[in-house]
Amino acid sequence: MHTPRLHRDTVEQIKERAEIVDVVSEYVVLRKRGKDYVGLCPFHNEKTPSFSVSPSRQSFYCFGCQAGGDAIKFLMDIHKQPFAEVVLDLARRYQVPVQTLEPEQRQELQRQISERSQLYELLATADQFYQHALRQPQGEVALNYLRQQRQIKDETIQEFGLGYAPGGWETLYRYLVDSKRYPPPLLEKAGLIKPRKENSGYYDVFRDRLMIPIRDIMGRVIAFGGRTLGDEQPKYLNSPETELFNKGKTLFALDKAKTGISQQDQAIVVEGYFDAIALHAAGIDHVVASLGTALSIEQVRILLRYSESKQLILNFDADKAGTNAAQRAIGEISQLAYQGEVQLKILNIPDGKDADEYLQTHTTQDYQQLIVNAPLWLNWQIQQIIQDKDLKQPGDFQQVSQEFVKLIKNIANTNTREYYITHCAEILSQGDTRLVALRVENLLTQVSPGTENKQNFRQFTSNKSSASSKSYLTQTEPSLLEQAEALLLRIYLHCPENRLVISTALEERDLQFSLSHHRFLWQQILEIIPENYGDELLTAVQQRCLEFPEETDLVSHIFHLNEKAKKEIQRTPQVIQAAIACMEIAISEKRCRYFRESWEQTEPEKEPEQYKYYADAFTKEKRNLQELEKQRLFSLLDLLQFNY
Ligand code: UTP
Ligand code: MN
Repeated sequence: MHTPRLHRDTVEQIKERAEIVDVVSEYVVLRKRGKDYVGLCPFHNEKTPSFSVSPSRQSFYCFGCQAGGDAIKFLMDIHKQPFAEVVLDLARRYQVPVQTLEPEQRQELQRQISERSQLYELLATADQFYQHALRQPQGEVALNYLRQQRQIKDETIQEFGLGYAPGGWETLYRYLVDSKRYPPPLLEKAGLIKPRKENSGYYDVFRDRLMIPIRDIMGRVIAFGGRTLGDEQPKYLNSPETELFNKGKTLFALDKAKTGISQQDQAIVVEGYFDAIALHAAGIDHVVASLGTALSIEQVRILLRYSESKQLILNFDADKAGTNAAQRAIGEISQLAYQGEVQLKILNIPDGKDADEYLQTHTTQDYQQLIVNAPLWLNWQIQQIIQDKDLKQPGDFQQVSQEFVKLIKNIANTNTREYYITHCAEILSQGDTRLVALRVENLLTQVSPGTENKQNFRQFTSNKSSASSKSYLTQTEPSLLEQAEALLLRIYLHCPENRLVISTALEERDLQFSLSHHRFLWQQILEIIPENYGDELLTAVQQRCLEFPEETDLVSHIFHLNEKAKKEIQRTPQVIQAAIACMEIAISEKRCRYFRESWEQTEPEKEPEQYKYYADAFTKEKRNLQELEKQRLFSLLDLLQFNY
């Protein structure tokens, strides 16, 4: 059939019915912002949302790529479909009668639309038949199974419309065709019967099974799941995909859960029909089930429409189908999680139980507590990575680090990324807080390699064999150190209120000024007993220095305060800390070098104890150095701002 020319009334009617938020949110996760909605644009690649949808104007617009239009235009762009095709799809979906300018086409389209209505009606009739059969003598076994084995109340059986498909090959067929006069091909299209292979005729798809109707979001029956009452395979038989039933877009119990999801601002996804049923019966009504397949991105988007803050909890069996069950179930939605489009949490019920089993021995409150405690998806991933790993083993350590890097690389949000870098670094440090800074740097280097300082840092922190390569600290140390020492002396002389902090720090850490003219000045200060002077200290020191013109020449700049120097001593606390760290680093580096060289010169076979001593001493000193380096990194900016 070539594309029909549609009557203007039809197009208008479809525009009225096809609500833009409804249409777009099948493709984009939308968040409410004032009167409008925003999301990540599906037409170009972006990390921050510039795509907006306006319900009042029934239009969308992207500030990033200028795409825009109404619901029809949106579908044309997204599917690259012509206007008429999109309109016809919408007409089918929203049950809008189609008027075309050519009468034969109108007939055909009308037929398609009425077929959908007939399918809904047929499935509703089949549903009634199954529910009725459950209350007949033939359904007794099934009813007892529900009541006794599964502890399901009659009220719940009613609410979910559970039924029974009688045994025999043509029970439903006879009822619908002989009594209700439905045409067999329609039953086949509804997925209820199949044509026989050898003889002519049809047979029922569902025989001697407990029937669970699957409904669309408006509560219309679109398919069935049938559970065996014995050991037959498969345990659950589901309707095939039909005109009405698209597995990837359907969620079991969404019609009953949507209000609860909005109210709780959260959606729970379980695996099994009976998990959802049991939770609803227990009063937890914001639950849907995923029809036994991996959760599709469409299903998640549909769910997220109802949760303002986009909270999704996946409750998957922990060990039934192996540890990867949830991983697989997450499927394509990990992309949404990495982008921060969904707040995803993973709930694994203790002892590998499913929700239904858990509720047999626990209360609603117990389950709610499990939800509250469920880890965020990334934390859950980290748990999975370190599970059964011994970080003291080099192989395991290596593997875990690499997995961490892979995980972190995918996180789009900078803050989240930084948070997890620190979190992973802490895990890798195994309780030794001195190692955290090093681990952070290592992860940073691997996650985003390439910047100069980080590479240097890597060289600097790398193992024994490459330790001889010159570090950036050694290269920049003299000037930075000199600045730091001069700064401390200047603050000491000009700011009486900071003197105690400085002298205490130097004493406690047993630090010496490393430049001889600084040592000289410090010596002069100590000799006149600074405590006696207060504001007069500077004058007294200057006086005393007159005796040593050569040395004084090198330190006289410390006595004067120009504009820049005034500014720098205003921010003393950070500056003192950084300067002290600088001095300490210089000394620690010397110690490191000494221990490393001694270690390298010791032969492990001949002097094992000596060898171990130097190795340990070096490692310990290196850790100390890294901790200091971290302290200095934090205040380095303050120090460098002064730009000597
Ligand atoms: P499970 O095998 O985990 O079973 O299937 P369950 O839900 O705990 O079943 P009960 O408690 O023994 O009744 C989880 C879901 O996977 C789909 C169904 O949707 C089921 O609810 N499934 C499972 C099938 O579609 N076919 C099967 O053969 C099995
Ligand atoms: Mn179960």
